[in-house]
Amino acid sequence: MYERILVPYDGSESAMHALEAAANLATSLKSYSAFTVLYVIQEIPRVEAARLAGDVNAMLVEEGQQAVAPALDLLTQKGVKAQAIYLHGDPAEVISREAGKYDVVIMGRRGLSTFKELVIGSVSHKVIQNTACPVLIVN
Ligand SMILES: Nc1ncnc2c1ncn2[C@@H]1O[C@H](COP(=O)(O)OP(=O)(O)O)[C@@H](O)[C@H]1O
Ligand SMILES: [Mg+2]
Repeated sequence: MYERILVPYDGSESAMHALEAAANLATSLKSYSAFTVLYVIQEIPRVEAARLAGDVNAMLVEEGQQAVAPALDLLTQKGVKAQAIYLHGDPAEVISREAGKYDVVIMGRRGLSTFKELVIGSVSHKVIQNTACPVLIVN
């Protein structure tokens, strides 16, 4: 039923909990065909990019790879075969678009934002609203 699993991952504690849940689900299902960890690279304002020396894009991709590394380590430990993808854009938009290729999205309730007024993060909130497949939100 849930053969293709998408885990949007931003390096937060909540995303790590979601990843653990997703890995356990994949292990119990045995027959998953895709397990993807998705990191969305947010565009940074051009003024800020201009201030930074060097290849900004390469820096952002490297930052993403560093954030995702512990996630891939955990999956290796658990014996879950996965792929990591890095896409540019607005996180909620990219996640909802990519979700079309999967059977379930498993993500964190919160992320890296320090603004904790709302019970749920803005990315999770938008993904729930705009995604057709089931979305599992993990604390
Ligand atoms: N840039 C991103 N790339 C991939 N997944 C993300 C990204 N930002 C957020 N997420 C996913 O959304 C979840 C909730 O984060 P978010 O809604 O941004 O909360 P907050 O507002 O606390 O930062 C995260 O646990 C993660 O699963
Ligand atoms: Mg966030």
